[in-house]
Amino acid sequence: MEQFLIEGGVRLEGEIPVSGAKNSALPAMAACLLTREAVLLHRIPQVRDICTMARLLEHIGAGVEFREDGTLRVEAHQVAVPEAPYELVKTMRASSLVLGPLLARAGRARVSLPGGCAIGARPINLHLEAMERLGARIRQEHGYIIAEAPEGLRGTLITFDRITVTGTEDVLMAAVLAEGETLLENAAREPEVADLAELLVKMGARIEGAGTSTIRVRGVSRLHGAEHTIIPDRIEAGTFLIAGAITAGDLLVTGCRPDHLTALVSKLIQAGAEITEAGPGALRVRRPGGLLAADVTTEEYPGFATDLQAQYMALATQAEGVSLITETIFENRFMHALELMRMGADIRIEGRRAIVTGPRELTGAAVIASDLRASASLVLAGLVARGETVVDRVYHIDRGYERIEEKLSRVGARIRRIAA
Ligand code: EPZ
Repeated sequence: MEQFLIEGGVRLEGEIPVSGAKNSALPAMAACLLTREAVLLHRIPQVRDICTMARLLEHIGAGVEFREDGTLRVEAHQVAVPEAPYELVKTMRASSLVLGPLLARAGRARVSLPGGCAIGARPINLHLEAMERLGARIRQEHGYIIAEAPEGLRGTLITFDRITVTGTEDVLMAAVLAEGETLLENAAREPEVADLAELLVKMGARIEGAGTSTIRVRGVSRLHGAEHTIIPDRIEAGTFLIAGAITAGDLLVTGCRPDHLTALVSKLIQAGAEITEAGPGALRVRRPGGLLAADVTTEEYPGFATDLQAQYMALATQAEGVSLITETIFENRFMHALELMRMGADIRIEGRRAIVTGPRELTGAAVIASDLRASASLVLAGLVARGETVVDRVYHIDRGYERIEEKLSRVGARIRRIAA
Protein backbone atom coordinates (compact mmCIF):
# COMPACT_ATOMS: atom_id res chain seq x y z
CA MET A 1 0.00 0.00 0.00
CA GLU A 2 1.33 3.46 -0.83
CA GLN A 3 1.69 6.45 1.45
CA PHE A 4 2.52 10.13 1.12
CA LEU A 5 5.44 11.49 3.07
CA ILE A 6 5.06 15.22 3.58
CA GLU A 7 7.54 17.64 5.12
CA GLY A 8 5.51 20.66 6.18
CA GLY A 9 6.25 24.37 6.38
CA VAL A 10 6.77 25.36 2.74
CA ARG A 11 4.90 28.23 1.04
CA LEU A 12 3.54 27.05 -2.28
CA GLU A 13 4.46 29.26 -5.20
CA GLY A 14 3.91 28.99 -8.93
CA GLU A 15 1.38 27.71 -11.39
CA ILE A 16 -0.76 24.66 -10.76
CA PRO A 17 -3.00 23.24 -13.50
CA VAL A 18 -6.47 21.80 -13.00
CA SER A 19 -7.53 18.53 -14.64
CA GLY A 20 -10.90 17.57 -16.10
CA ALA A 21 -13.68 16.95 -13.58
CA LYS A 22 -13.95 13.36 -12.38
CA ASN A 23 -17.60 13.84 -11.43
CA SER A 24 -18.38 15.11 -14.91
CA ALA A 25 -16.31 12.49 -16.73
CA LEU A 26 -18.05 9.60 -14.95
CA PRO A 27 -21.62 10.37 -16.14
CA ALA A 28 -20.26 11.35 -19.56
CA MET A 29 -18.73 7.89 -19.86
CA ALA A 30 -22.00 6.26 -18.81
CA ALA A 31 -23.80 8.36 -21.45
CA CYS A 32 -21.69 6.69 -24.14
CA LEU A 33 -23.84 3.59 -23.60
CA LEU A 34 -26.79 5.44 -25.12
CA THR A 35 -25.53 5.15 -28.68
CA ARG A 36 -23.95 2.50 -30.87
CA GLU A 37 -21.73 5.16 -32.41
CA ALA A 38 -18.34 6.29 -31.07
CA VAL A 39 -18.13 9.15 -28.56
CA LEU A 40 -14.91 11.10 -28.02
CA LEU A 41 -14.40 12.67 -24.60
CA HIS A 42 -11.52 15.10 -24.14
CA ARG A 43 -9.84 16.15 -20.91
CA ILE A 44 -10.54 12.92 -19.08
CA PRO A 45 -8.59 12.92 -15.79
CA GLN A 46 -6.30 9.97 -15.21
CA VAL A 47 -7.71 8.90 -11.86
CA ARG A 48 -8.69 5.54 -10.46
CA ASP A 49 -12.48 6.05 -10.60
CA ILE A 50 -12.22 6.68 -14.33
CA CYS A 51 -10.37 3.36 -14.76
CA THR A 52 -13.13 1.66 -12.77
CA MET A 53 -15.81 3.17 -15.02
CA ALA A 54 -13.82 2.10 -18.09
CA ARG A 55 -13.73 -1.47 -16.77
CA LEU A 56 -17.48 -1.30 -16.20
CA LEU A 57 -18.13 -0.11 -19.78
CA GLU A 58 -15.93 -2.94 -21.07
CA HIS A 59 -17.80 -5.45 -18.92
CA ILE A 60 -21.03 -4.23 -20.52
CA GLY A 61 -19.55 -4.73 -23.97
CA ALA A 62 -18.24 -1.32 -25.05
CA GLY A 63 -14.85 -0.72 -26.66
CA VAL A 64 -12.83 1.75 -24.58
CA GLU A 65 -9.62 3.38 -25.71
CA PHE A 66 -7.56 5.87 -23.71
CA ARG A 67 -5.32 8.14 -25.77
CA GLU A 68 -2.20 9.88 -24.50
CA ASP A 69 -3.64 13.38 -24.88
CA GLY A 70 -6.34 12.68 -22.27
CA THR A 71 -8.98 11.74 -24.84
CA LEU A 72 -11.18 8.73 -24.32
CA ARG A 73 -12.98 6.96 -27.15
CA VAL A 74 -15.94 4.81 -26.24
CA GLU A 75 -17.90 2.78 -28.73
CA ALA A 76 -20.82 0.82 -27.35
CA HIS A 77 -21.68 -0.91 -30.60
CA GLN A 78 -23.64 -3.43 -28.59
CA VAL A 79 -24.75 -3.83 -25.00
CA ALA A 80 -23.84 -7.47 -24.39
CA VAL A 81 -24.14 -7.61 -20.59
CA PRO A 82 -26.43 -4.88 -19.18
CA GLU A 83 -25.02 -5.20 -15.71
CA ALA A 84 -22.97 -3.39 -13.05
CA PRO A 85 -21.43 -6.18 -10.95
CA TYR A 86 -20.82 -5.94 -7.21
CA GLU A 87 -17.00 -6.02 -7.60
CA LEU A 88 -17.11 -2.71 -9.47
CA VAL A 89 -19.99 -1.02 -7.63
CA LYS A 90 -18.42 -1.66 -4.25
CA THR A 91 -15.23 0.14 -5.29
CA MET A 92 -17.15 3.01 -6.90
CA ARG A 93 -20.75 3.92 -6.11
CA ALA A 94 -21.00 6.06 -9.23
CA SER A 95 -21.25 2.74 -11.11
CA SER A 96 -24.99 3.05 -10.52
CA LEU A 97 -24.89 5.77 -13.20
CA VAL A 98 -25.20 3.04 -15.83
CA LEU A 99 -28.72 2.14 -14.65
CA GLY A 100 -30.46 4.90 -16.63
CA PRO A 101 -28.51 4.42 -19.88
CA LEU A 102 -28.87 0.63 -19.79
CA LEU A 103 -32.62 0.80 -19.20
CA ALA A 104 -33.00 3.33 -21.99
CA ARG A 105 -30.85 1.48 -24.50
CA ALA A 106 -31.35 -2.20 -23.64
CA GLY A 107 -34.67 -2.11 -21.78
CA ARG A 108 -33.13 -3.88 -18.80
CA ALA A 109 -30.37 -3.51 -16.26
CA ARG A 110 -28.95 -5.47 -13.36
CA VAL A 111 -27.09 -3.19 -10.99
CA SER A 112 -25.58 -4.19 -7.68
CA LEU A 113 -26.76 -2.28 -4.63
CA PRO A 114 -23.85 -0.18 -3.38
CA GLY A 115 -23.78 -1.10 0.33
CA GLY A 116 -22.08 1.00 3.01
CA CYS A 117 -19.90 4.02 2.47
CA ALA A 118 -17.38 5.95 4.59
CA ILE A 119 -19.30 9.24 4.39
CA GLY A 120 -22.91 8.14 4.96
CA ALA A 121 -25.62 5.67 4.00
CA ARG A 122 -25.92 6.95 0.43
CA PRO A 123 -28.94 4.97 -0.80
CA ILE A 124 -30.11 5.06 -4.43
CA ASN A 125 -33.84 4.95 -3.67
CA LEU A 126 -34.48 8.23 -5.50
CA HIS A 127 -32.89 6.87 -8.70
CA LEU A 128 -35.10 3.79 -8.46
CA GLU A 129 -38.33 5.65 -7.72
CA ALA A 130 -37.71 7.89 -10.71
CA MET A 131 -37.06 4.93 -13.01
CA GLU A 132 -40.35 3.42 -11.83
CA ARG A 133 -42.10 6.68 -12.67
CA LEU A 134 -40.62 6.36 -16.16
CA GLY A 135 -42.27 2.95 -16.44
CA ALA A 136 -39.54 0.54 -15.35
CA ARG A 137 -40.37 -2.48 -13.21
CA ILE A 138 -37.89 -2.78 -10.38
CA ARG A 139 -37.18 -5.66 -8.06
CA GLN A 140 -34.36 -6.59 -5.75
CA GLU A 141 -32.66 -9.99 -5.82
CA HIS A 142 -29.43 -11.29 -4.28
CA GLY A 143 -28.12 -7.78 -3.57
CA TYR A 144 -28.92 -6.60 -7.09
CA ILE A 145 -31.51 -4.26 -8.51
CA ILE A 146 -33.20 -5.76 -11.55
CA ALA A 147 -34.87 -3.11 -13.67
CA GLU A 148 -36.91 -3.90 -16.75
CA ALA A 149 -38.73 -1.83 -19.31
CA PRO A 150 -39.36 -4.21 -22.22
CA GLU A 151 -41.73 -1.78 -23.92
CA GLY A 152 -39.41 1.17 -23.37
CA LEU A 153 -39.62 4.13 -20.98
CA ARG A 154 -42.30 6.82 -21.03
CA GLY A 155 -41.75 10.48 -20.18
CA THR A 156 -43.47 11.79 -17.07
CA LEU A 157 -43.24 14.33 -14.24
CA ILE A 158 -40.55 13.49 -11.69
CA THR A 159 -40.13 15.56 -8.54
CA PHE A 160 -37.17 14.57 -6.42
CA ASP A 161 -37.85 14.53 -2.66
CA ARG A 162 -34.32 15.80 -2.14
CA ILE A 163 -31.65 16.99 -4.48
CA THR A 164 -29.44 14.23 -5.82
CA VAL A 165 -26.59 14.82 -8.25
CA THR A 166 -26.08 11.36 -9.75
CA GLY A 167 -29.82 10.73 -9.41
CA THR A 168 -30.50 13.71 -11.67
CA GLU A 169 -27.83 12.50 -14.11
CA ASP A 170 -29.12 8.92 -14.11
CA VAL A 171 -32.70 10.01 -14.82
CA LEU A 172 -31.59 12.47 -17.49
CA MET A 173 -29.85 9.63 -19.31
CA ALA A 174 -32.96 7.46 -19.05
CA ALA A 175 -35.32 10.22 -20.18
CA VAL A 176 -33.47 11.20 -23.36
CA LEU A 177 -34.60 8.00 -25.10
CA ALA A 178 -38.02 7.77 -23.39
CA GLU A 179 -41.20 8.29 -25.35
CA GLY A 180 -42.60 11.80 -24.86
CA GLU A 181 -41.68 14.51 -22.41
CA THR A 182 -40.10 14.25 -18.98
CA LEU A 183 -40.18 17.14 -16.55
CA LEU A 184 -37.63 16.83 -13.75
CA GLU A 185 -38.30 19.03 -10.74
CA ASN A 186 -36.00 19.74 -7.80
CA ALA A 187 -33.14 18.64 -10.05
CA ALA A 188 -29.50 19.14 -9.04
CA ARG A 189 -28.00 22.35 -10.44
CA GLU A 190 -24.37 21.21 -10.30
CA PRO A 191 -22.16 22.19 -13.27
CA GLU A 192 -21.54 18.47 -13.82
CA VAL A 193 -25.26 18.00 -14.59
CA ALA A 194 -25.15 20.86 -17.11
CA ASP A 195 -22.00 19.38 -18.66
CA LEU A 196 -23.69 16.00 -19.09
CA ALA A 197 -26.70 17.68 -20.70
CA GLU A 198 -24.38 19.49 -23.09
CA LEU A 199 -22.87 16.18 -24.18
CA LEU A 200 -26.31 14.58 -24.53
CA VAL A 201 -27.52 17.47 -26.69
CA LYS A 202 -24.45 17.01 -28.91
CA MET A 203 -25.52 13.36 -29.20
CA GLY A 204 -28.96 14.47 -30.44
CA ALA A 205 -30.95 14.72 -27.19
CA ARG A 206 -33.48 17.48 -26.60
CA ILE A 207 -32.96 19.00 -23.15
CA GLU A 208 -33.81 22.40 -21.71
CA GLY A 209 -33.04 23.86 -18.32
CA ALA A 210 -30.03 21.76 -17.27
CA GLY A 211 -28.16 23.73 -14.59
CA THR A 212 -31.49 24.92 -13.13
CA SER A 213 -33.81 23.02 -10.83
CA THR A 214 -36.34 22.27 -13.59
CA ILE A 215 -35.17 20.23 -16.55
CA ARG A 216 -37.36 19.39 -19.52
CA VAL A 217 -36.45 16.47 -21.76
CA ARG A 218 -38.19 15.59 -24.99
CA GLY A 219 -37.43 11.99 -25.82
CA VAL A 220 -35.88 11.07 -29.17
CA SER A 221 -35.73 7.63 -30.78
CA ARG A 222 -31.95 7.42 -31.12
CA LEU A 223 -28.74 9.22 -30.25
CA HIS A 224 -25.55 9.43 -32.28
CA GLY A 225 -21.82 9.83 -31.71
CA ALA A 226 -20.33 13.12 -30.53
CA GLU A 227 -17.21 14.85 -29.29
CA HIS A 228 -17.05 16.73 -26.00
CA THR A 229 -14.55 18.35 -23.64
CA ILE A 230 -15.12 17.74 -19.93
CA ILE A 231 -15.31 20.84 -17.67
CA PRO A 232 -12.45 21.58 -15.24
CA ASP A 233 -12.60 19.91 -11.83
CA ARG A 234 -13.93 22.55 -9.43
CA ILE A 235 -13.13 20.43 -6.40
CA GLU A 236 -9.50 19.95 -7.43
CA ALA A 237 -9.26 23.69 -8.20
CA GLY A 238 -10.81 24.47 -4.81
CA THR A 239 -8.35 22.16 -3.07
CA PHE A 240 -5.46 24.07 -4.70
CA LEU A 241 -6.93 27.45 -3.70
CA ILE A 242 -7.06 26.22 -0.11
CA ALA A 243 -3.48 24.92 -0.45
CA GLY A 244 -2.34 28.41 -1.50
CA ALA A 245 -4.21 30.05 1.37
CA ILE A 246 -3.19 27.59 4.08
CA THR A 247 0.53 27.81 3.20
CA ALA A 248 0.41 31.62 2.80
CA GLY A 249 1.73 31.01 -0.68
CA ASP A 250 1.26 32.61 -4.07
CA LEU A 251 -0.45 30.17 -6.40
CA LEU A 252 -1.84 30.58 -9.86
CA VAL A 253 -4.55 27.96 -10.35
CA THR A 254 -4.93 27.60 -14.11
CA GLY A 255 -7.44 25.92 -16.43
CA CYS A 256 -10.29 26.34 -13.96
CA ARG A 257 -13.79 27.87 -14.13
CA PRO A 258 -13.93 30.73 -11.59
CA ASP A 259 -17.72 30.91 -12.03
CA HIS A 260 -17.96 27.38 -10.58
CA LEU A 261 -15.99 28.38 -7.49
CA THR A 262 -17.80 31.44 -6.19
CA ALA A 263 -18.97 30.00 -2.83
CA LEU A 264 -15.46 28.84 -1.92
CA VAL A 265 -13.77 31.99 -3.19
CA SER A 266 -16.00 34.30 -1.14
CA LYS A 267 -15.43 32.14 1.95
CA LEU A 268 -11.65 32.21 1.46
CA ILE A 269 -11.73 35.98 1.04
CA GLN A 270 -13.74 36.23 4.26
CA ALA A 271 -11.07 34.07 5.90
CA GLY A 272 -8.32 36.47 4.85
CA ALA A 273 -7.10 35.19 1.50
CA GLU A 274 -6.70 37.44 -1.51
CA ILE A 275 -8.06 35.87 -4.67
CA THR A 276 -8.01 37.56 -8.02
CA GLU A 277 -8.87 36.52 -11.57
CA ALA A 278 -5.60 36.37 -13.48
CA GLY A 279 -6.63 35.91 -17.08
CA PRO A 280 -9.11 33.49 -18.58
CA GLY A 281 -9.60 30.41 -16.43
CA ALA A 282 -6.98 31.42 -13.87
CA LEU A 283 -7.26 32.40 -10.23
CA ARG A 284 -4.38 33.74 -8.18
CA VAL A 285 -4.44 33.11 -4.44
CA ARG A 286 -2.26 34.91 -1.90
CA ARG A 287 -2.50 35.66 1.76
CA PRO A 288 -1.44 39.09 2.96
CA GLY A 289 -1.91 38.34 6.68
CA GLY A 290 -3.21 35.72 9.10
CA LEU A 291 -6.32 33.62 8.59
CA LEU A 292 -9.61 34.46 10.33
CA ALA A 293 -12.32 32.05 11.39
CA ALA A 294 -15.34 31.89 9.08
CA ASP A 295 -18.37 29.59 9.41
CA VAL A 296 -19.23 27.21 6.62
CA THR A 297 -22.41 25.26 5.86
CA THR A 298 -22.35 22.76 3.04
CA GLU A 299 -25.17 23.00 0.52
CA GLU A 300 -26.07 21.84 -2.93
CA TYR A 301 -24.62 23.92 -5.79
CA PRO A 302 -24.28 26.88 -5.94
CA GLY A 303 -23.70 26.66 -2.17
CA PHE A 304 -20.49 25.56 -0.47
CA ALA A 305 -19.63 22.05 -1.76
CA THR A 306 -19.57 19.14 0.66
CA ASP A 307 -16.62 17.89 -1.40
CA LEU A 308 -14.58 20.86 -0.10
CA GLN A 309 -15.66 20.67 3.54
CA ALA A 310 -12.79 18.45 4.71
CA GLN A 311 -10.17 20.60 2.98
CA TYR A 312 -11.73 23.74 4.45
CA MET A 313 -11.56 22.21 7.91
CA ALA A 314 -7.77 21.85 7.57
CA LEU A 315 -7.63 25.59 6.81
CA ALA A 316 -9.93 26.43 9.74
CA THR A 317 -7.43 24.86 12.16
CA GLN A 318 -5.05 27.69 11.18
CA ALA A 319 -7.60 30.52 11.47
CA GLU A 320 -7.89 32.89 14.41
CA GLY A 321 -11.15 32.26 16.30
CA VAL A 322 -13.92 29.67 16.20
CA SER A 323 -15.12 28.29 12.84
CA LEU A 324 -18.41 26.46 12.84
CA ILE A 325 -18.53 23.89 10.05
CA THR A 326 -21.95 22.37 9.38
CA GLU A 327 -22.33 19.37 7.06
CA THR A 328 -25.86 19.10 5.67
CA ILE A 329 -25.40 16.73 2.70
CA PHE A 330 -23.89 13.60 4.25
CA GLU A 331 -24.43 12.33 7.78
CA ASN A 332 -20.96 11.00 8.49
CA ARG A 333 -18.45 13.19 6.74
CA PHE A 334 -16.18 14.21 9.62
CA MET A 335 -13.74 11.28 9.73
CA HIS A 336 -10.87 13.62 8.82
CA ALA A 337 -11.55 15.65 11.99
CA LEU A 338 -10.28 12.82 14.18
CA GLU A 339 -7.05 12.60 12.20
CA LEU A 340 -6.62 16.39 12.21
CA MET A 341 -7.00 16.28 15.98
CA ARG A 342 -4.16 13.76 16.13
CA MET A 343 -2.04 16.40 14.41
CA GLY A 344 -2.93 18.95 17.10
CA ALA A 345 -6.14 20.55 15.82
CA ASP A 346 -8.76 21.71 18.33
CA ILE A 347 -12.03 20.32 16.93
CA ARG A 348 -15.22 19.33 18.71
CA ILE A 349 -17.87 17.36 16.85
CA GLU A 350 -21.50 17.88 17.80
CA GLY A 351 -23.72 15.90 15.45
CA ARG A 352 -23.52 17.56 12.06
CA ARG A 353 -21.37 20.41 13.35
CA ALA A 354 -17.63 20.66 13.82
CA ILE A 355 -16.42 23.45 16.05
CA VAL A 356 -12.87 24.31 15.09
CA THR A 357 -10.85 26.62 17.34
CA GLY A 358 -7.65 28.10 16.00
CA PRO A 359 -5.03 28.78 15.27
CA ARG A 360 -3.33 25.64 16.54
CA GLU A 361 0.13 24.56 15.53
CA LEU A 362 -0.12 21.23 13.74
CA THR A 363 2.65 18.69 14.12
CA GLY A 364 3.39 15.92 11.64
CA ALA A 365 1.92 12.52 12.48
CA ALA A 366 1.00 9.22 10.88
CA VAL A 367 -2.61 9.61 9.72
CA ILE A 368 -5.06 7.47 7.80
CA ALA A 369 -7.20 8.67 4.91
CA SER A 370 -10.80 7.46 5.14
CA ASP A 371 -12.16 8.76 1.83
CA LEU A 372 -11.18 10.83 -1.15
CA ARG A 373 -11.72 14.36 0.20
CA ALA A 374 -10.60 13.41 3.72
CA SER A 375 -7.24 12.44 2.25
CA ALA A 376 -6.95 15.80 0.53
CA SER A 377 -7.62 17.47 3.87
CA LEU A 378 -4.81 15.50 5.51
CA VAL A 379 -2.39 16.41 2.73
CA LEU A 380 -3.25 20.10 3.24
CA ALA A 381 -2.72 19.76 6.99
CA GLY A 382 0.61 18.01 6.30
CA LEU A 383 1.72 20.99 4.20
CA VAL A 384 1.53 23.32 7.22
CA ALA A 385 2.42 20.87 10.00
CA ARG A 386 5.80 21.04 11.70
CA GLY A 387 7.84 17.98 10.76
CA GLU A 388 6.86 14.90 8.86
CA THR A 389 3.35 13.66 8.11
CA VAL A 390 2.69 10.22 6.70
CA VAL A 391 -0.71 9.85 5.03
CA ASP A 392 -1.72 6.21 4.72
CA ARG A 393 -4.16 4.67 2.20
CA VAL A 394 -3.48 7.19 -0.54
CA TYR A 395 -5.46 4.99 -2.93
CA HIS A 396 -8.40 7.08 -1.74
CA ILE A 397 -6.84 10.27 -3.10
CA ASP A 398 -5.87 8.52 -6.35
CA ARG A 399 -9.57 7.92 -6.97
CA GLY A 400 -10.14 11.57 -7.74
CA TYR A 401 -6.91 13.60 -7.92
CA GLU A 402 -4.60 13.26 -10.89
CA ARG A 403 -1.01 12.84 -9.64
CA ILE A 404 -1.56 15.32 -6.83
CA GLU A 405 1.90 14.83 -5.35
CA GLU A 406 3.54 15.75 -8.68
CA LYS A 407 1.39 18.87 -9.07
CA LEU A 408 2.09 19.99 -5.49
CA SER A 409 5.83 19.22 -5.76
CA ARG A 410 6.11 21.47 -8.80
CA VAL A 411 4.91 24.43 -6.72
CA GLY A 412 7.37 23.71 -3.94
CA ALA A 413 5.68 21.18 -1.65
CA ARG A 414 7.91 18.54 -0.12
CA ILE A 415 5.70 15.52 -0.76
CA ARG A 416 6.72 12.05 -1.92
CA ARG A 417 4.86 8.84 -2.64
CA ILE A 418 6.44 5.93 -0.83
CA ALA A 419 5.70 2.22 -0.62
CA ALA A 420 4.56 1.28 2.87
C1 EPZ B 1 -22.31 13.17 -5.96
O1 EPZ B 1 -22.63 11.99 -5.25
C2 EPZ B 1 -20.80 13.20 -6.09
N1 EPZ B 1 -20.37 12.02 -6.83
C3 EPZ B 1 -20.17 13.26 -4.70
O2 EPZ B 1 -18.77 13.39 -4.86
C4 EPZ B 1 -20.70 14.50 -3.97
O3 EPZ B 1 -20.20 14.51 -2.66
C5 EPZ B 1 -22.22 14.47 -3.93
O4 EPZ B 1 -22.75 14.34 -5.28
C6 EPZ B 1 -22.84 15.72 -3.33
O5 EPZ B 1 -22.42 16.85 -4.04
C7 EPZ B 1 -20.40 12.03 -8.16
O6 EPZ B 1 -20.80 12.98 -8.79
C8 EPZ B 1 -19.89 10.82 -8.84
P1 EPZ B 1 -26.25 12.82 -3.95
P2 EPZ B 1 -24.13 11.48 -5.20
O7 EPZ B 1 -27.11 11.77 -4.57
O8 EPZ B 1 -24.80 11.82 -6.45
C9 EPZ B 1 -29.05 11.35 -0.37
C10 EPZ B 1 -16.50 12.98 -4.32
O9 EPZ B 1 -15.79 13.11 -3.29
N2 EPZ B 1 -29.66 10.44 -1.35
O10 EPZ B 1 -26.35 14.20 -4.48
O11 EPZ B 1 -24.06 10.05 -4.79
C11 EPZ B 1 -27.58 10.98 -0.10
O12 EPZ B 1 -27.49 9.93 0.83
C12 EPZ B 1 -17.91 12.45 -4.22
O13 EPZ B 1 -16.09 13.21 -5.45
C13 EPZ B 1 -30.73 9.67 -0.97
O14 EPZ B 1 -31.19 9.70 0.19
O15 EPZ B 1 -24.72 12.34 -4.02
C14 EPZ B 1 -27.02 12.28 0.35
O16 EPZ B 1 -27.28 12.46 1.71
C15 EPZ B 1 -18.27 11.83 -2.93
N3 EPZ B 1 -31.29 8.82 -1.89
C16 EPZ B 1 -27.79 13.32 -0.47
O17 EPZ B 1 -28.97 12.64 -0.92
C17 EPZ B 1 -30.81 8.73 -3.17
O18 EPZ B 1 -31.36 7.95 -3.97
C18 EPZ B 1 -27.05 13.87 -1.69
O19 EPZ B 1 -26.47 12.80 -2.39
C19 EPZ B 1 -29.73 9.54 -3.55
C20 EPZ B 1 -29.17 10.39 -2.61
